[in-house]
Order: sequence, then structure tokens, then C-alpha cells
Amino acid sequence: MEYVIETKALMKRYGTKAAVNNMSLHVKKGDIYGLIGKNGAGKTTLMKLLLGITAPNSGEIKLFGGEELGAARRKIGSLVETPALYQNETALENLKRFAILAPTSDEEIKRLLAFVGLANTGAKKAGEFSLGMRQRLGLAIALLGNPEMLILDEPINGLDPAGIKEVRDVILEMNAKGVTFLISSHLLDELGKIATSYGIMADGVLVEELTASELEERSRTSVKLIVNDPALAVAALTNCHPNIQIDQSGQILRILSPVEDVSLIVEELVQSRVRIYQVISESQGVEDYFIERMGK
Ligand SMILES: Nc1ncnc2c1ncn2[C@@H]1O[C@H](COP(=O)(O)OP(=O)(O)OP(=O)(O)O)[C@@H](O)[C@H]1O
Ligand SMILES: [Mg+2]
Repeated sequence: MEYVIETKALMKRYGTKAAVNNMSLHVKKGDIYGLIGKNGAGKTTLMKLLLGITAPNSGEIKLFGGEELGAARRKIGSLVETPALYQNETALENLKRFAILAPTSDEEIKRLLAFVGLANTGAKKAGEFSLGMRQRLGLAIALLGNPEMLILDEPINGLDPAGIKEVRDVILEMNAKGVTFLISSHLLDELGKIATSYGIMADGVLVEELTASELEERSRTSVKLIVNDPALAVAALTNCHPNIQIDQSGQILRILSPVEDVSLIVEELVQSRVRIYQVISESQGVEDYFIERMGK
């Protein structure tokens, strides 16, 4: 499998704290990869490492299958934290300034402004923009130069519901043209509408990577069993269902594969002389799944 972003054992420490801890990330071409994690999980730090804004202590970053990092990064547009705008200039003037780095025709610049919903801001200076307007202008800057990949840190932060929908549409439209996205967000519902893959981060660690369909499967119904002999139970269930996925921790088994009939599972275990202390069948929403994985 070829990845457009691949890191190996990436490490960034601030003092004794590992903001990014031994992280191995895998983003495929064409993905809309959603990074999810609580405040301080390390999302922004990871993005800064990928973009070369900050240097890792150790580990590897491979972009576009191993291109020279400088050249690879020129093909990436980004919006990380607040964009540094020229406060005394209009949206158009700002965009023209940033376009120096990626030569762009006036026509294209105007098209970009319209694309992010800033066509009618006229003479208004960036210093007078609302948070949502600044965010939109930052996005337009990120889009300059037809990037092959976009790294967006909380791109819908500060946007109103209409703005959120517009940004979502922009992302989907560009993704349909083949642009890969790495996006961080706290808004699980919003990310859930567009992401094709997820990376769940907690305290600097990439806890899990999974595709949207894996997430859907896992967040359906989960069955938890507390048994006397977990090894015997796993063997018995695997014998009956060769593809079953079971997560074991101590005497608790969690069946990750979809379970249609809990009573059948119970019967199989009883026949194998496993003693069941408790069966918990719960339907878990996507949000609950993330919250459990991110740590409470
Ligand atoms: N420049 C820095 N100096 C010292 N510590 C830092 C620095 N940048 C980040 N950190 C620490 O690294 C950890 C991860 O921070 P980071 O900003 O990457 O988290 P985040 O997931 O982006 O959080 P948020 O959701 O709040 O944006 C935090 O504990 C933070 O305090
Ligand atoms: Mg952040």
C-alpha cells in the first residue's frame, strides 16, 4: 500500500512531555483523513511536524511515497491555527500577497474568494473580519497553487452552520478531484459526514486508525461478556465463527464483529463449558466509540 503521508515512530517532546509519542500514521491518496482527539492530544503538533513548521526529536516522515520533503511540502496547502493575515488589507489583497509563493492569475484568485464565500467583502480589511471570515480567508490561502493535499487544523472552527456546510462542500468537491485531506476536528458529527478514515489520538498517542466502514461496523452493536475462562471462550467462539473479532482484557471479552443473535453466542459458550458471569449487549453510537477510545 502506498501512502501520501506515512510516519514511523514520530516523536516530538516539549520538555519531558511527549506531544507526539511514537506515532505511525498512514494516510492514503484520496483519503479524507480525520484526526480526532481531545484538547492537547497532539493534533496540531502532528500537523506542524508534517509541514516542517517544527522538527521532530526522532522518527520518520514520508510524503508522497518518499519524495524529498521540501518538494513534497510545496504540494501541500495548509491551514494550521490562526492564519497570519495582513490586518490592514482586504481579502483580495491578502490573497494576492500569499499568491506570490504560488503564482496565480487574478481570475483564479477571484474564483477562490468566491469559492470560500468571500466574494463580497470588498474594501473591508482583514483586521475587521469575524473569526469565520478569517477562517475562510485562511482556507482560500491554503487552496492557492492547486495543492495535491490539504492539511487543515480545525477548519470549521468559528464558522456558523451555513459556513460549516460551505466548507464541507468545498472539501468534498476538491476531494472528488483527487485532493487528499488531513483534517482535525472536535466536532465528531461534522467529521463523520465526510471522513473516509480516522486516526484517534489521546495524549500524544495514535490509539487507533480505522476506515469509515470499520467504524460503522464497530459502533453498531457491541457485546461484552465477563467469563471465567477467557482463553477457552475465545477458542470456542473462534471455532464457531472463524472471522470473529474479539478484544480481550482480563475476564472481559468484547466482540467487535457484528452480532446478530446474542443468545447463540451464549449457547456456544455454555456448550464449551465456559461460565458466563455477565452479558452486556449495547448499541454504541459513533460518538461513544470515539469517546471511549480517546479516554474519558
Ligand atoms: N510550543 C509548545 N511548547 C510547549 N508545549 C507545547 C507546545 N505546543 C504544544 N505543546 C504541548 O503539546 C501537547 C499537544 O498540544 P497540541 O496543540 O498539539 O494539541 P491539540 O490536539 O492540537 O489540542 P487542541 O485540540 O486544543 O488544539 C499539549 O500538552 C501542549 O501543551
Ligand atoms: Mg490544536
